[in-house]
Amino acid sequence: MKNIVILISGRGSNMEAVIRAAQAEQWPARIAAVISNRSDAAGLAFAAKHGIATAVVANKDYATRAEFDAALQTVIDGHAPDLVVLAGFMRILTPQFVEHYAGRMLNIHPSLLPLFPGLATHAQALAAGVAEHGATVHFVTAELDHGPMVAQAVVPVLADDTVDSLSARVLAQEHTLYPRAVRWFIEGRLTIEQGQVHVDHTTNQ
Ligand code: GAR
Repeated sequence: MKNIVILISGRGSNMEAVIRAAQAEQWPARIAAVISNRSDAAGLAFAAKHGIATAVVANKDYATRAEFDAALQTVIDGHAPDLVVLAGFMRILTPQFVEHYAGRMLNIHPSLLPLFPGLATHAQALAAGVAEHGATVHFVTAELDHGPMVAQAVVPVLADDTVDSLSARVLAQEHTLYPRAVRWFIEGRLTIEQGQVHVDHTTNQ
């Protein structure tokens, strides 16, 4: 049984998708904890309702990024994670923290990386006039939104799209893309060696 720790900052719909998939598909894994940097993160209630341990490590309680990351690391490591899943965790992480979880920390970003790293990705996509947009699951490295890519989902950009309509279309894709990638990792089908991602697609799921 592998341990997954999920980090959130807000709504937690990707967290919810991972929790639901883990239960429905009976992954050989348990969601050991959901941890937020904000006590008002809506996703905490869903996790608690599902009997998952929750914790808040509030970044505003720490003077520096390094102190916050150290405190967060202590709480995460209390759950002996095999995998740390960033699900709308809106914090820039220190290189030390990222290094500690090298090869075992995934993120989902709402764009087709390397396009549109950072914030307001849907507005960036609309402003750029791209025909397609989407989401990317990647391993986390010290450079924001630049880690080795694992999987992407593509959606069309429609002529009358707004940030709301486009983000909803992308989010719906995130909810299948992210659980699938997490499951690959849990099943040992997703590996990374010297920065090279390998996914074993032979079972085609
Ligand atoms: C998701 O769209 C996720 O891709 C994005 O925040 C949203 C969180 O929604 N993450 C980032 O922008 C990370 N840079 P959720 O809380 O409902 O999962």
